[in-house]
Amino acid sequence: MTDKKATLSIDGIDTRIDLPVLSGTLGQDVIDVGSLTANNVFTFDPGFTSTASCESKITFIDGAKGVLLHRGYPIEELAEKSSYLETCYLLLNGELPNTAQKEEFEHIISTHTMVNRSIEHFFSGFSYDAHPMAMMCGVVGAMSSFYHDSLDINNPTHRMITAHRLIAKMPTLAAMCYKHYVGQPYMYPKNKMAYAENFLHMMFGTPCDDPKVNPVLARAMDLLFLLHADHEQNASTSTVRLAGSSGANPFSCIAAGIAALWGPSHGGANQAVLEMLNEIGDEKHIDKFVKKAKDKDDPFRLMGFGHRVYKNFDPRATVMKKACDEVLAELGIEDDPLLKIAKRLEKIALEDDYFVSKKLYPNVDFYSGIIMKAIGIPTEMFTVIFATGRTVGWIAHWNEMISNPYKIGRPRQLYTGPSKRSIPPIAQR
Ligand code: SDX
Repeated sequence: MTDKKATLSIDGIDTRIDLPVLSGTLGQDVIDVGSLTANNVFTFDPGFTSTASCESKITFIDGAKGVLLHRGYPIEELAEKSSYLETCYLLLNGELPNTAQKEEFEHIISTHTMVNRSIEHFFSGFSYDAHPMAMMCGVVGAMSSFYHDSLDINNPTHRMITAHRLIAKMPTLAAMCYKHYVGQPYMYPKNKMAYAENFLHMMFGTPCDDPKVNPVLARAMDLLFLLHADHEQNASTSTVRLAGSSGANPFSCIAAGIAALWGPSHGGANQAVLEMLNEIGDEKHIDKFVKKAKDKDDPFRLMGFGHRVYKNFDPRATVMKKACDEVLAELGIEDDPLLKIAKRLEKIALEDDYFVSKKLYPNVDFYSGIIMKAIGIPTEMFTVIFATGRTVGWIAHWNEMISNPYKIGRPRQLYTGPSKRSIPPIAQR
C-alpha cells in the first residue's frame, strides 16, 4: 500500500477527495482514481495519453531517455546476446532460460509448428490478392476452432500450451499468407531448422527448389522478430488485454490484436514507410515531403517518425539501423537507393526545428522495412512480420492479466448528445 496521496477538490463538491498515489519499480507514479465513481465523476483521457491501464512486470519504457527493458534487460543487450526464442521465454516466464530450459523450449516450439491441414481451406477462400493481414486476422481467429482441448483460460497449463502453439504456428501461418499471395504451394516447417531459418524456408522454398537459407538473412529475420516482441501497453496489446478481459479465448484475442496492429499509425507504418520512400523516389524530393509533413492542413505524416512514448530515439530503431547497414553490406547492396533516401530523410528531419521541437524521432518502423525488403519480403507482408514477432508480447500480457485478479474493461464517456426527448409523429419530423 502507499502512503502518498493526491487530494482533489472539485467545484460543486464540498468534500476533498484523497486518491492513493502508487509507485512502481521504475517510471512515473500513478494516481489510483478508482474511487472517483463513488463521487459521481469520471476521468477523461481520450487516447489514454495520461492513463495507466494496468500493472505489469513485463516491459518498461522510458520515453524521455529512449530506454526499453524486457523483464529488466535492455533491448540492445537482448538484440546482441540473445535470440528471439530466448526473449520469448523471458517474456513468458520472467527469467532468461538456462541451457536445459532453452533447449526444451526450442524443442517444444519446433514440434508445434505445423497447422491443421484444414487451415489450407481457409486460405483458398481468400481472393488471390487479399491483403496478408486480412488473412492473418481470419485464420488466427479460426485457430480457436481446432484447440478445444486447451481453451480453459483459468488453467495455467492450457494458457502455456496456447502460448507455445501461437509462437510456433504464427510463422507457418505468415508463410502460408505469402504463398497464397504469390500463388505457390505451401511449404511445411522443418523441425530441425531454427525458428527464423524455418520461417524463411517456408517463405521462399518451393517443392521444386528449397535452397539453404542464407545465415545472414536468418539472423536478420530473428533480430526483426526480437525487436518487435513486446512494447508495453501499445494499441494492439491494449486491444488484446481488453478482449481478454471479457474471458474470450486467447486465439480470438490475438486476432483482435492483429486487427489493431494493421493501422498505419501502428504496425501498418512499416509498409507505409516503404510506400513513402518509394513515393519520394529521389533525395531531391525529400524537402517537398518534409514540408508536407509540417503542413497542418496536409494529412501527410512522415511515416516511421514519432511515437506516443518515445520523445528520444526509439532504441529499436537504433539497433535496426545498424542491422540495416550490416545486412545490406553482407548482401552487397550498400547503395540501396531507398536506404540512401531514408538516411538523408532522417538527417534532414533531425535537424529541422518542427521535428526537434515536437521530439519526433525515427521509430521501430523506419528502418525495419528496408531490412525486410533486402530479405525479399514484399511490403504487403511487413505488418504480418510485425504481428508474428509481437505475438509473444500479446500472449505474455494476456497471460499476465488472466493469471492475476482482473475485471472486464468497461470505460465510461463524456456524453454530449441530446437530452431525453419524445418521438414526434413522422409528419412533424
Ligand atoms: C508503432 O505505442 C507503441 O509502442 C507502438 C509501437 C509498438 O512497438 O507497439 O512502438 C509501434 O506503432 C510505432 C509508431 C508507428 N507509426 C508511425 O510511424 C506513423 C507516423 N507517426 C505518427 O502518426 C505519430 O507519431 C504516432 C501515431 C506514432 C504518435 O502519435 P501521438 O502520440 O498521438 O502524437 P500526435 O499525433 O498528437 O502528434 C504530436 C504532434 C502533432 O502536431 P501538433 O498537433 O502538436 O501540432 O506531432 C505531429 C502531430 O501532427 N506529428 C507528426 C508526426 N507524428 C506526430 N508530424 C509529422 N510526421 C509525423 N510522423
